[in-house]
Amino acid sequence: MRYETPSLTRWNARAYDSSFGYVSAQGVPLVELLDPQPGERVLDLGCGTGVLTAEIAKRGASVLGIDGSTAMIETAIAQYPGLDFTIGYGDDFTVAQPYDAVFSNAALHWMSRDPDAVISCVRMALRPGGRFVAELGGAGNCATLTSAMRTAWREHGLREPELPWYFPTPAEYALRLEKGGFTVRILEYVDRPTPLDECPGGAADWVRMFAGSLLDGVPPALVEPLLRRVNELAAPALRRESGWVADYVRLRFAAVRR
Ligand code: BEZ
Repeated sequence: MRYETPSLTRWNARAYDSSFGYVSAQGVPLVELLDPQPGERVLDLGCGTGVLTAEIAKRGASVLGIDGSTAMIETAIAQYPGLDFTIGYGDDFTVAQPYDAVFSNAALHWMSRDPDAVISCVRMALRPGGRFVAELGGAGNCATLTSAMRTAWREHGLREPELPWYFPTPAEYALRLEKGGFTVRILEYVDRPTPLDECPGGAADWVRMFAGSLLDGVPPALVEPLLRRVNELAAPALRRESGWVADYVRLRFAAVRR
């Protein structure tokens, strides 16, 4: 299966943009790390609705956004008609001309089927010396959220959900990069508690948005009680007076193609 998981095919790209705009907003510092230069060729891997693709283009780079979700690409094209977007899969894409940089924000963890194939495709897309600058969920990402899901599923007599994400440790991902032909220059592993500002329904909204496919196998009458239980289990750690906060952990790196 492609990294376009069942949940991704269900994504409502516009809802993603408005309710979960923090995904893109928090990516701006990653664009600073990329430091795109006028005239550079940049590929934005897993570009979603194209917000950061546009940010990179603003700096004068020539940028192509690719994503495995048709809905995301359609929205990106509608929002940024002057930019180039295409459907493509992280573990199975090729390019006609090499790029100076590949950028990826909050997307690599969805490409869970074969992370080495993703790294190999990125390497092939870069010129020697080209940079790979990305951020993904690291080990422990969303641990409270996913633990609440597992427990709630079990308590309702359901088989534990198979989560579709890849959250590597820094050591594991650095090794993959080095073995895949990259030299790692920067690697950071940080907690990033992330307010779910537009999530009045708390963890339940997060599950519906990002793990909606896992609800497909749940008998309809169980969905609401299940999600209520996810909220109860996650609330002590994630609900603050100001609102819900997701327990995100980020792995951010800059590597250079040897
Ligand atoms: C993340 O950005 O860390 C993330 C988003 C959705 C599902 C899982 C992780």
